[in-house]
Amino acid sequence: MAQSGDDHSYWNATAGEGPNFPALAGDIEVDIAIVGGGIVGVTAARLLKDRGLRVALIEARRVGRQVTGKSTAKISSQHGILYQTLEKKFGEEKARLYAEAQEAGISEIARLAQVHGIDADIEPMPAYVYTNDESYVGQIEKEVEIARRLGLPASLTRDTGLPFDVLQAMRWDNQAQFHPTKYVAGLAATIPGEGSHVFENSRAIDYEPTRVVTDGGTVAARHVVMATHLPLGQIGMYYALAYPMAEPVVAAPISRVPPGMYKNAEQPGHSIRTHKGPDGRVWGIVAGNHYKPGHVDDEQRYIADIERWLAEHFDAGPVRYRWVNEDYTAMDQAPFIGWSSSGGKGYLVATGFAAWGISNGTAAAMIIADLATGKENAWTAMFDATRIKPIAGAGEFVKENAEVAAHLVSGYLSRKPKSYDQLAPGDAAILKVDGENVAAFRDEAGKVHAVSAVCTHMGCLVGWNRTDRTWDCPCHGSRFELSGEVIHGPATQPLGAKVTG
Ligand code: FES
Repeated sequence: MAQSGDDHSYWNATAGEGPNFPALAGDIEVDIAIVGGGIVGVTAARLLKDRGLRVALIEARRVGRQVTGKSTAKISSQHGILYQTLEKKFGEEKARLYAEAQEAGISEIARLAQVHGIDADIEPMPAYVYTNDESYVGQIEKEVEIARRLGLPASLTRDTGLPFDVLQAMRWDNQAQFHPTKYVAGLAATIPGEGSHVFENSRAIDYEPTRVVTDGGTVAARHVVMATHLPLGQIGMYYALAYPMAEPVVAAPISRVPPGMYKNAEQPGHSIRTHKGPDGRVWGIVAGNHYKPGHVDDEQRYIADIERWLAEHFDAGPVRYRWVNEDYTAMDQAPFIGWSSSGGKGYLVATGFAAWGISNGTAAAMIIADLATGKENAWTAMFDATRIKPIAGAGEFVKENAEVAAHLVSGYLSRKPKSYDQLAPGDAAILKVDGENVAAFRDEAGKVHAVSAVCTHMGCLVGWNRTDRTWDCPCHGSRFELSGEVIHGPATQPLGAKVTG
């Protein structure tokens, strides 16, 4: 079945078909239930199984093809210019724990791929952050100084291998890139057996800390791990503590191949990595500036910007793949990983990776495996998921939640087309129909697809994602198919269908 938003990703298109896993049918009991089949959920499942536990991984769609399968998949502890922010907000010791966790995540991916013989195209590769803006030079120099103090493999250089000069850059050694969908699918394939399971096309529609209900059956467990990008529904109120950002990504074959993974410090953002495709050509995978989900004007502007940049510098062929990914950033910039309530209660959660989900996600799975089995983990001092009011992010908290309030009232998309008749083929709009807000799209065959524009999470109006042809919620990042089906939460219920008359 075509899944519009997922099929556009280069990674999903080049991963091959399998493996396929059954949907949950009936009621089962395991030790740990894990909701969400991305890198966090699948890695946690594998690590818990290694400790002799029975696990059930429950994925609403296909394993590895949502957020992980739409990322740029850099395996790196170099997260833009982050360490000076972490040190300022949390202190040197906690910044060191963050660094240690990322480096451990990198090693763990290599270990798991090797132990299980997973063909995930892992390529060792240095990572660079560079700038051509004078005002970032000092920040890059400071970042290297802090990173080295924290034990990270950082150095300053202007010799980047990019096909243009830079004012300053920092290089991280011992990093890597890989094929994220192949990795997650390969790891997931090792899980079924000895009382453990992987279920696809099984959406959690109800949940509590010891039980997950899907429309095919129920999984009872000692603990439930919410590995769903943002914890579902109202859990932990993480939707108010982390804000969603979308980023456009494109892929095209390139002739000028740079010898590393790169990201600039300034805006508009340009991030590039490469991959040798099944066709033998090297592809450039480029991500652009972040913007609020559903803000289609920004999406179109940033897509155009990265396509121009790719063509200008890397001798690129035609862009073949375009898609939009999303991630959450915590108000205080550090992920939330661990128990959702103090005293080892509630759910085990992992969210707020700020687009650095490969190393963070793997480290999160390592933490979750410890906590679920009663073991202490020193990294939890950094990632404590019960820091309910992150003081270090108070300003962001006020700003982001004010924007949410605005989207509840008016939404984003212009109301220029006033009726279904005024929608041209390929156009989308939020219409007022019989007093209700309707999200409407007319396809090239002239058929109108109309659903309620009111997000089923907390009532914001969704916005149009022209690249993926999905409805994306600017408030907390839920995404929906044209049919209203949930792509990912925090919403768990579809947008209501509308009759177009
Ligand atoms: Fe919260 Fe839409 S995701 S209102």
